[in-house]
Amino acid sequence: MKNIKPLFISFEGIDGSGKSTQCQMLYHELLDRDLVVHLFREPGGTKISEKIRDILLDKNHSEMSAVTEMLLYFSSRNQLIVEKIIPALTRGEIVLLDRFVDSTIAYQGYGRDLSLNDINKVAEVAIGNVHPDLTVLVDTPLETAENRMDKRELDRLEAENAEFKQRTRQGYLELARQEPDRFLVLDGRESIETLKQTVIKKVTQILEIEA
Ligand SMILES: Nc1ncnc2c1ncn2[C@@H]1O[C@H](COP(=O)(O)OP(=O)(O)OP(=O)(O)O)[C@@H](O)[C@H]1O
Ligand SMILES: [Mg+2]
Repeated sequence: MKNIKPLFISFEGIDGSGKSTQCQMLYHELLDRDLVVHLFREPGGTKISEKIRDILLDKNHSEMSAVTEMLLYFSSRNQLIVEKIIPALTRGEIVLLDRFVDSTIAYQGYGRDLSLNDINKVAEVAIGNVHPDLTVLVDTPLETAENRMDKRELDRLEAENAEFKQRTRQGYLELARQEPDRFLVLDGRESIETLKQTVIKKVTQILEIEA
């Protein structure tokens, strides 16, 4: 195995945008290059975080308050950081995350209208200075994303209304405008293969290896 340097990449986008497809493809590409790479999904990735995931996505939990929801996301995330992310980065490995803190800002902040200031205060405690080196935002129009998911049974957050999803998408784009150096914004309408090549090009540049 060739460890080059620690690298932390998160994948973001609305439901059905295509982010899991892209992070799984990057994961396999990096494995093929003999690199040590981990892929975790959020919320989840540890025993405790997966239990929190079940609470968050349970359709029977319609009474869950927006603050409870936000705190649970950060609890799950902190457990993942402590148990998995920090140890892997300390060993000089690559960590890919299917969603991270930008999801909370986009969904609970822009989508649910929770105070961004409150979210950032909790983020300071829950994630500290563990920030992605690169965030791939798969920006996909609502209609395209919904067509990609319509065969699935929706979880509690996926069943939200169109205005909520529109605010979430715009929230992501606003975050990308604020931190252009961290974000790689992709047009999710492009083909899976085209998007994959763009991601690989960017990541190989950062790792200073051949594309
Ligand atoms: N660029 C693309 N073009 C066409 N179809 C795509 C593209 N990317 C993904 N898909 C398909 O769309 C569906 C949803 O993709 P994916 O699961 O990657 O989305 P996601 O963003 O992870 O969604 P969720 O937030 O619900 O987990 C899958 O069936 C996938 O094969
Ligand atoms: Mg997914």
